[in-house]
Amino acid sequence: MVKAVKGMNDIFGTEGYRWQRMEEDIRHIVFSQDFEEIRTPLVEKYELFDRSVGEDSDVVQKEMYDFKDKKGRHIALRPEGTAGIVRAYVEHRMDLEKPGPRKLFYFGPFFRYERPQKGRYRQFHQFGLEIFGDSTAEMDAEMIFTASRIMKHFEIDHDIKINSIGCDSCRPAYREKLKTFFEKHVDELCENCRNRLHTNPLRLIDCKKCEPFKRYDAVPLTTDHICDSCNESFEKLKKSLEIFKVSYKIDPSVVRGLDYYTKTAFEITADTDGAHNSIAGGGRYDSLVKELGGPDTPATGFAIGLERLFDLISDDFFAGSSLCSAYTLDESATPDLLHFVKHMTHHPLRITADYIPRKMGKALKKADKINARHIFMFGKHEVENKTVLYRDLKTGEQRHYKQHEVMKIVKDTMEKEIRHLSK
Ligand code: HAM
Repeated sequence: MVKAVKGMNDIFGTEGYRWQRMEEDIRHIVFSQDFEEIRTPLVEKYELFDRSVGEDSDVVQKEMYDFKDKKGRHIALRPEGTAGIVRAYVEHRMDLEKPGPRKLFYFGPFFRYERPQKGRYRQFHQFGLEIFGDSTAEMDAEMIFTASRIMKHFEIDHDIKINSIGCDSCRPAYREKLKTFFEKHVDELCENCRNRLHTNPLRLIDCKKCEPFKRYDAVPLTTDHICDSCNESFEKLKKSLEIFKVSYKIDPSVVRGLDYYTKTAFEITADTDGAHNSIAGGGRYDSLVKELGGPDTPATGFAIGLERLFDLISDDFFAGSSLCSAYTLDESATPDLLHFVKHMTHHPLRITADYIPRKMGKALKKADKINARHIFMFGKHEVENKTVLYRDLKTGEQRHYKQHEVMKIVKDTMEKEIRHLSK
């Protein structure tokens, strides 16, 4: 038997239904803030990620699925969404299409060669959004507010941690401060941190292995070393989040694992069973569009890990309406069943029909097996009287309706559903 590739999952059945509902709800939320969907390819040129996510980030150094195609071109499966969307924004000159801000969102699979465990997969899904052409801290706040709307909608207990990691003008001095600080402790650092000390000392702050941030009290903090302009933005961000009624904590250890961020960085965490409790993350990346060959365009965004979000949504959240199932008990009744199915599909109920004639007992058994509640049956008697036999498998109620009473059937069934869902 050929099995799925390690760390990659199939989604089907009840889970499939719940994924669909989760995605629909998120779409609904972001449409209300005028976001438009963008779909970009799953594969991009390797250099795109090297140049954006950062050549010495974990994602590029260790986690990329990359290969040479038949003509020897270096290709990668996308490990994240921002780089591809910036590439598309620049390639299609989206800045010229209409006045900004341009608010985009996406859903899709992403690939990282990580050690698989619960909540961490080699193919996982993200929902994300990217906003181009607006440099304000207020837009960062709206972006974080959107993430918090999604968490609240799904009734998830969560923490929002914000930080400012400075800009091109204040970060070089901060890096030097970090280098000087950590050089004193070089022997106590893990190999990874020692390697990064000179290339990207910011990464040391959130190293999960040797945890330098937790070990030394005096690690220089970003928020104490940002310039006046970054500080002003950070103050505005905090004020705007308060107006949006988004609760947040300031956490100087939020430096993000991808290299393109400037100023605002944030993460959302929730209590899951394990250390991997980061559900979403993002921030501002004002230099990336230019670095990838586009016009100087500020940008901000975030992504949510959908597997992690899915695991946090309670089972009751998507308790859907029960299924209606319809059967023919005699071949002569099949045309009546067909008419019935056609009429029922005009209404917001879920119906499945079975066109193989069977005895009533067998029909009820099958309905029970597929977890249907509302059963409709058509036999010889029903054809003669132009009726349909209804059975509620939950209450045992049984009655005949006239076949032309579809509206009454729908009303009765939906009323039961509303009562069932509001319990
Ligand atoms: P990220 O923090 O690398 O950010 O990923 C965002 C989320 O994707 C994480 O918080 C986590 O929930 C989920 N995730 C990451 N790796 C895995 C994995 N191996 N298995 C399951 N879930 C995972 C980004 O990707 C940025 N592009 C976000 C962004 C958008 N920044 C600006 N715009």
